[in-house]
Amino acid sequence: MNHGVPVATTKREREELAAIARRAKGHAYAGYSKFRVGAALLTSDGTVIEGCNVENSSYGLAICAERNAVFQAVAAGKKKFRSIAIASDDRGFLSPCGACCQVLAEFAPHLEVLLTNAAGGIRVTSLDKLFPIPPDLKKLSRRTRRPTK
Ligand code: THU
Repeated sequence: MNHGVPVATTKREREELAAIARRAKGHAYAGYSKFRVGAALLTSDGTVIEGCNVENSSYGLAICAERNAVFQAVAAGKKKFRSIAIASDDRGFLSPCGACCQVLAEFAPHLEVLLTNAAGGIRVTSLDKLFPIPPDLKKLSRRTRRPTK
């Protein structure tokens, strides 16, 4: 279903991306929460970068699937994104957490976001709907930059 959001992908691409996110979920290291998440990030050159959540015995160090995918993409030299699909085993449509929205917004504030559920449903939304007023920290860092001597 398209909730009034401009779409960046075809139906076929969305289905493929959702299937890749589901597959990536299989790599989750989530023994503490038992909540597996997979993400599939489509870059502007057509590459799909997979991510999964990776937890730790020091619980607070867990990284979400979405941020894992973004960091891997940037490390591979890719910073332009068209869409991200997110998959879990939940019956509901899983949305990215606030930290992941912030990280995604750094690179693609209007990114298409594909929320999926365990029944195979895909809900098309966008980062600007999920995270409508991101803090304008890039501007802030320009303003507070010290003059160079
Ligand atoms: N998690 C994600 O990977 N993505 C989300 O969108 C929500 C939460 C992970 C973090 C943690 O490993 C587990 O799910 C439970 O919160």
